[in-house]
Amino acid sequence: MRRPEPVKPSQDPPGVPARRAALRLLDAVLRRGLALEAELDRAGQGLAPNDRGLAHAIAAETLRRLPDLDALIDGATQRPLPDDAKARFALRIALVQALALGTPHHAAIATALPLVEGGPRKLVHGVFGTLMRQGATLPEPPTLPDPVALRWHAAWGDQLIEDAERAVAVPPPIDLSLRDAAAAPDIPGASLMPGHVRLDARAPITGLDGYAEGGWWVQDLAASLPARLLGVGKGRVLDLCAAPGGKTLQLAAAGWDVTAVDVSESRLARLSENLARTGLSAEVVTADLLKWRPAEPVDAILLDAPCSATGIFRRHPDVLHRVRPSLIAEMAELQARLLTRAAAWVRPGGVLVYATCSLEPKEGEEQLAAFLAEHDEYTLDSVRPDELPEGVAPRPDGTVRTLPGMLAEQGGLDGFFIARMRRRL
Ligand SMILES: C[S@@+](CC[C@H](N)C(=O)[O-])C[C@H]1O[C@@H](n2cnc3c(N)ncnc32)[C@H](O)[C@@H]1O
Repeated sequence: MRRPEPVKPSQDPPGVPARRAALRLLDAVLRRGLALEAELDRAGQGLAPNDRGLAHAIAAETLRRLPDLDALIDGATQRPLPDDAKARFALRIALVQALALGTPHHAAIATALPLVEGGPRKLVHGVFGTLMRQGATLPEPPTLPDPVALRWHAAWGDQLIEDAERAVAVPPPIDLSLRDAAAAPDIPGASLMPGHVRLDARAPITGLDGYAEGGWWVQDLAASLPARLLGVGKGRVLDLCAAPGGKTLQLAAAGWDVTAVDVSESRLARLSENLARTGLSAEVVTADLLKWRPAEPVDAILLDAPCSATGIFRRHPDVLHRVRPSLIAEMAELQARLLTRAAAWVRPGGVLVYATCSLEPKEGEEQLAAFLAEHDEYTLDSVRPDELPEGVAPRPDGTVRTLPGMLAEQGGLDGFFIARMRRRL
């Protein structure tokens, strides 16, 4: 029998493995277009939990401030460093720690230099030293990458850019959805809607009242709106694209008879864990919705479609750098196909809620307009103001568009588009 390979002890001085992992994360996002969260396990292999946390924090903060870090680097180098040069990555990692994360300057550079072993260490050391001597600072709030700013400006105007820059500056608060709003656990925090508690971004959550009993789960307030719009359970609902299951839990808690469908087995495993922890139940189906269909029409469908996820840039700043127009177009096409299939499975008089966590009109407003133009068996069912948090109003057409500037004083909101439609009788 082959013995497993022993894990090689790191030759690196303390502190360097976390920076190497941060480098791997940034490389995955910026050079290979992968999602930061999806790479965490691979990039953090063999690291202690603290170092994994540090690697994630360095990578995420770098992604929040990338255009500003690069502007500093470009201002201090005579010949521009290529975008993918190791020296640029090492400098970004050293600078973000020194200028945004409060790492002492000597530690920030000492732990970054081994990342350019065999490369231009002198240059990295020199550029860092020059910037520190000049008293370089990063602007507050950070600057959005140009392609994102141009796209969002065209869609939403000046104010959105200001709001998004303010929103990307800090990690967002943690929102909890409560299983039973009437028997809320004792958790200190602000409640912006029934069944909701908002905590500080850095609040430790596993020790909170009700965790072991499954009294709540983490879910952004905006992400909780689509399931809220289906109200209390009135029969059978299909939760399509359900994993990891925040909305499945809400629907089950509201009394619906839920079938949760998703193509990803690993994400569905998390959904099943969530059901077990909260003691809620749903039928769980692993299937590709482009092939699967239900045995009979249902009373309601929630389609939380796969999308560019640009609306959750506060939590996932990687989307600011890896989402290109081609991905948005690809996602919009998939959403249209899923929406058309789902539409056929709602009984006459039943409800279809369509949602995406995107700030791209192609995945929201334009998607809906195209769907309604093709499907006159559906009409928009206007969302009422009392179905939304105070300070968030439905759009004049009765759909919901949450934007990062909304509820800014209370910690802001992720960007979602939500439409509720009813199938004609
Ligand atoms: C926005 S996420 C869903 C989040 C989930 N509704 C929640 O509240 O936790 C989109 C999901 O769509 C799933 N998905 C993408 N393409 C799919 C397909 N063809 N069939 C089924 N699920 C799909 C992905 O696996 C992913 O879990």
